[in-house]
Amino acid sequence: MEPNRPYIIREQAGTTYYCACGKSQNKPYCDGAHKGSGLRPYKVEIEVEKNVAVCSCGLSAKMPFCDGAHKSIV
Ligand code: FES
Repeated sequence: MEPNRPYIIREQAGTTYYCACGKSQNKPYCDGAHKGSGLRPYKVEIEVEKNVAVCSCGLSAKMPFCDGAHKSIV
């Protein structure tokens, strides 16, 4: 993946947990690495199969999804 670009993923319907702590070895998904940090993953209900853009830069105001804020990174 290129730096400062969202993860573009085709998600199936269901519950998905995205990493919020930055420590997951399976980004953008939670792998449990947050345990002990006081943080919790983003729990997202996907109602129908669709493409999503998950933030990788940490600047989005609409976490866990990309809002274009990565474009401000030079
Ligand atoms: S990757 Fe787009 S706002 Fe973070």
